[in-house]
Amino acid sequence: MLQLAVFVSGRGSNLRSIHMAIKERRLTAEIVAVVTNLDSAPARSFAEGEGIPCLSVEGKFPDEQARVMLDFLEAQSADFIALAGYVKLIPAEVVAAFPQRMVNIHPALLPAFGGKGMYGRRVHEAVLASGVQVSGATVHLVDEEYDRGPIVMQRSVIVHSDDTVDSLAERVLDVEHTIYPEALQLFAERRVEVIDNRIFIRN
Ligand code: GAR
Repeated sequence: MLQLAVFVSGRGSNLRSIHMAIKERRLTAEIVAVVTNLDSAPARSFAEGEGIPCLSVEGKFPDEQARVMLDFLEAQSADFIALAGYVKLIPAEVVAAFPQRMVNIHPALLPAFGGKGMYGRRVHEAVLASGVQVSGATVHLVDEEYDRGPIVMQRSVIVHSDDTVDSLAERVLDVEHTIYPEALQLFAERRVEVIDNRIFIRN
């Protein structure tokens, strides 16, 4: 069973979908910790309402953030991190402490439409402006760069010619809520192997 820490900055719909997947026994995990960079994140209120221990690192300097995060994660016995709309770069010390044990979800088909500053609505704006006909969601392992790291799972959605940012975001978010718990379950079942920076899923 994964002892999950979920990192959030915003509304927390992916946190809720992971929580629901656990309740419905689609995901063999327990959310033991939630970390946020914003005291006021709605995701934090949800977690507190569910009795999940929360840490906010708002206002802390980067090296202090790393220390308090690592202390908190250890105190909660977290052994896996899922970034769910966390908009800040994870301190290198935290990445190093969770090798191949930290994933992120991104609302596009990486490596396209990723990188610094590409989160939330901005991603869908860039997708629509580019004229691509397919978008989707990506779950990938986390390294020291934004939206990089071996890809664990992707699923596509069609971009319609009359899509707005909101309609595309909604279609992609539905896919996110499906594939994030599925991808995490692969780790729970120890089916993910990383060889030469590529992911192999065991049957
Ligand atoms: C999600 O769409 C997630 O893919 C995105 O932020 C949103 C968070 O929503 N993450 C990124 O853009 C990361 N680069 P949520 O708070 O409702 O889960």
